[in-house]
Amino acid sequence: MNQQDTLKQLVGQTAANLVEDGMIVGLGTGSTVRFMVDALGKRVQEEGLNITGVTTSNRTTEQATGLGIKIVDLDDVNHVDLTIDGADEVAPNFFGIKGGGGALLWEKIVNDASSHNVWIVDQSKMVNQIGNFGVPVEVIPFGATKVFAKFEQKGYQPQWRLNEDGTHYRTDEENYIIDLKMGLIEDPLALAEDLIHTVGVVEHGLFLNRVNQVIVGGDQGVSTLNVPK
Ligand code: A5P
Repeated sequence: MNQQDTLKQLVGQTAANLVEDGMIVGLGTGSTVRFMVDALGKRVQEEGLNITGVTTSNRTTEQATGLGIKIVDLDDVNHVDLTIDGADEVAPNFFGIKGGGGALLWEKIVNDASSHNVWIVDQSKMVNQIGNFGVPVEVIPFGATKVFAKFEQKGYQPQWRLNEDGTHYRTDEENYIIDLKMGLIEDPLALAEDLIHTVGVVEHGLFLNRVNQVIVGGDQGVSTLNVPK
């Protein structure tokens, strides 16, 4: 396993230990969360940990159910105690970008429904200012070229997210993703407002004021950053 994966596994295991018996747990998406779900599955199998999961992608549902974790629909629970998810970039003010794995819509819905949100990242995700990763934006396929053109006009430097065969990447909701490659973002709150009010946009990957705790894996081990309330 390479160094980055070792750190991802470390934070994944640390976060899995935050889960307590009886909890309703939101399970994120991505390569870091994959390690966390593995560790959680192990606790379910070995300790008899009794939890209910809600997931943020079909991929995670498949992995979790395969490990014996009980998964229900978000609509079948009235609250979520804790959600553990990854992130693509996290700034010192805890503004983040998510959606590199294309699951931003369900991730934001589960995040919104959760009492406590934890992100698990390796140190490469910690940045001084968000933006260089790009901002994933989920758009309805109908009229998507019009949204793309609007983004171009605004200087957002949009790129279609494509599959290897050149077809449009499709989210779990069958939508398209446009990645905005505009570089560092001076005013993420203003951009978020603009994006969410653009007709045809379903959701964007700017996660602003949406996390309570960030668990970072680095050369010196794991550190937990608590977001001031
Ligand atoms: C999924 O859509 C994303 O939001 C992921 O949480 C994010 O891309 C982090 O993924 P990795 O853990 O694979 O870097």
